[in-house]
Amino acid sequence: MSEAFQAPVGTHDVLGAEAAQWEGIIGTFAELAYRYGFSLIVTPVFEDVGVFNRGIGEKSEVAQKEMYVFEDRGGRTYALRPEGTAPVVRAFVQHNPTIPYKAWYFTPAFRYERPQKGRYRQHHQLGVEVLGSEDPAIDVEVIALLHDYFTSVGLKKFRVLINSMGHDECRTAYVDTLREYLGSRVAQLCEEHQKVWDQNTLRLLDCKKTECVQVTNDGPQLPDHLCEGCKSHFGSVRAGLGALDIDFELAPRLVRGFDYYTRTTFEFVSDALDSAQNAIGGGGRYDKLAEQLGGSLTPGIGFGSGIERLVLALEAEGISEPLIQRTPQVFVVDTTESDVATELCHELRQAGIATVRAFDHRSMKAQMKVADKSGARLALLVGPQELAAGQITIRDLRSEEKVEQAVVARREVLAEVISRLGK
Ligand code: HAM
Repeated sequence: MSEAFQAPVGTHDVLGAEAAQWEGIIGTFAELAYRYGFSLIVTPVFEDVGVFNRGIGEKSEVAQKEMYVFEDRGGRTYALRPEGTAPVVRAFVQHNPTIPYKAWYFTPAFRYERPQKGRYRQHHQLGVEVLGSEDPAIDVEVIALLHDYFTSVGLKKFRVLINSMGHDECRTAYVDTLREYLGSRVAQLCEEHQKVWDQNTLRLLDCKKTECVQVTNDGPQLPDHLCEGCKSHFGSVRAGLGALDIDFELAPRLVRGFDYYTRTTFEFVSDALDSAQNAIGGGGRYDKLAEQLGGSLTPGIGFGSGIERLVLALEAEGISEPLIQRTPQVFVVDTTESDVATELCHELRQAGIATVRAFDHRSMKAQMKVADKSGARLALLVGPQELAAGQITIRDLRSEEKVEQAVVARREVLAEVISRLGK
């Protein structure tokens, strides 16, 4: 026997009941995105590495340490996308669609992280991006969409954290103030940040270590250093969320993991998950990103939400029912080796009925076992007797006490199935 391979470390296959769950998760998101006026975008899974590594400002951990970068046979350097935003903005700049451009996506994302529960090297995100408007009403719409989504899949134990990172000028001034404050307190920071505190100063706010949390909590806070324009923008976002009765918490330390954020940032956290992996979605504004990717100055905002995290959150809240049912309605059992099963399946499927069957001429008993397991409501049985008489036996697989079945003429099967499924 040849070697049997496993999925790579930090990745996972999705099948069976979990896949059914995913279908509901993705389908519900697609429907909601449509309701909010978003259309689908699909971009390549790899991009020129420069799309993610723009070579300016503070570098995110993801861009520095976690990207899957490779050279192709033509000597070009590409990266597997670590996230969904930069590719959408790259596509926006390339195609120049009418603004506001509102796109949603479902995409794998690749990060070379230390794998653990809720943290993978290939994870999957549902997300949206809006390009071409700086109206705070669009920030509210984007946050409301994610709130609406988590509510509609049944989550209850989540909170919305928001912050504003200001625009370049007020943020740069804040970082200077923060750096000055930290300068005399370096020895109180965590070990890692004692070394790099003056390079990626803003990242310190993201540090979960008690030492850094304490020092930065007592220090200057970003929202207090916003200019009038950014303050007023943030005020309108908060008022808009209030008008929609969306509860939120102000999180002055929320700077998020990418270098492109400006003004509004937000994160949805699940209280049903461990704090290290409790972010079930996050996003914010990136008003300079289009320009950094060679386009004209175009404001943007969006979010990404990890499907694996959502599945964990649903599980932790005891929500196990898939959002949409994916069990067959009818199972055709045929022991005659005729074409009846093929014809029956076709007829029922044409009529919109989810129908499956067994193959390979297995015994009646073996086929019935599969039928019982399939979750189908009805079994249609075709044996030699039925074949000779031009009839089909219909058996209700869900009646618990006795086997409930009836024999009907072949041409009446569809009507009988429809009538029984309707009950
Ligand atoms: P992010 O916060 O890095 O943001 O990722 C978005 C979501 O993806 C997280 O909230 C989390 O649910 C999930 N996630 C991230 N990393 C992993 C991982 N290693 N394993 C499992 N799930 C993970 C972004 O990616 C931005 N592009 C979001 C955005 C869109 N900002 C503006 N527009």
